[in-house]
Amino acid sequence: MTALKIFIESEQEHPLMEILNNICEVEFYSGEMPDKGLILSNDELCYISSTSQRITFDWPNQWNYHVRKKYSLKKELLAKALGISKSGTSSVWDATCGTGKDSLLMLSYGLKVRAFERQEVVASLLVSAISSSMIDEDLSSVLKERFSFEFGTVLDYVKINSESIDWPDSLYYDPMFTDAGRKKKALSRKEMEIFKEVVGDDEDSADFLESLLKLPIKRIVVKRHPNSPELLKGVTASYKGKSVRYDLYCNPKV
Ligand SMILES: C[S@@+](CC[C@H](N)C(=O)[O-])C[C@H]1O[C@@H](n2cnc3c(N)ncnc32)[C@H](O)[C@@H]1O
Repeated sequence: MTALKIFIESEQEHPLMEILNNICEVEFYSGEMPDKGLILSNDELCYISSTSQRITFDWPNQWNYHVRKKYSLKKELLAKALGISKSGTSSVWDATCGTGKDSLLMLSYGLKVRAFERQEVVASLLVSAISSSMIDEDLSSVLKERFSFEFGTVLDYVKINSESIDWPDSLYYDPMFTDAGRKKKALSRKEMEIFKEVVGDDEDSADFLESLLKLPIKRIVVKRHPNSPELLKGVTASYKGKSVRYDLYCNPKV
């Protein structure tokens, strides 16, 4: 695997350097500023896209947006699919963290969230977003109490920690894919650029879901466009809105 390249504006040690080095192999370099790629400036890490968009994930802003919404868990489609009121779901694994928006949404429902991301550019922006969130008193205490982030996939994590897994009540899966009906409205145009440039389609999504369904987790919720077909047969219930559908797969053995 090749090292993740990050341009550093200042030669001074930055606290994020050590954190990033702990999640994957990173090569920091300086000199001439690149046209695109990851840049570590004094305050944060950003991704410059091929159209020169500067992309960061702004967690404090997103968190405050959710808090202001004061969601009713009985009405929220995702909360219903996850089984928060009826099945007493209190913990969830977010198998596809991406920008972290859905993780923050689930944290705002009061859930304990373990989030996974396998793409190293996206994961490094997440690590930076988590670190920048520590200036927000409310969000930082929520993250310390109820959130953890894993670089890699749920299946890697299960394999490595097989002896000591604290299984969640539910798992949420939102893979990237393009099809006729699908527009990722939840993501801004800037965010779409990074996903198009560094992630592409998650072409293994049906196979990955098949493996997820074998885990001892009661509820697996898959995010789909309302007009898209089921990712796999066997949906127990669907929760459909105007721009999104959540397909629930219940595991009767758990
Ligand atoms: C559609 S985006 C997720 C958007 C996310 N729900 C959000 O709120 O921003 C899919 C993300 O999941 C990641 N991903 C896809 N399959 C994965 C897997 N099996 N394990 C870990 N990450 C995965 C991709 O790299 C991408 O960043």
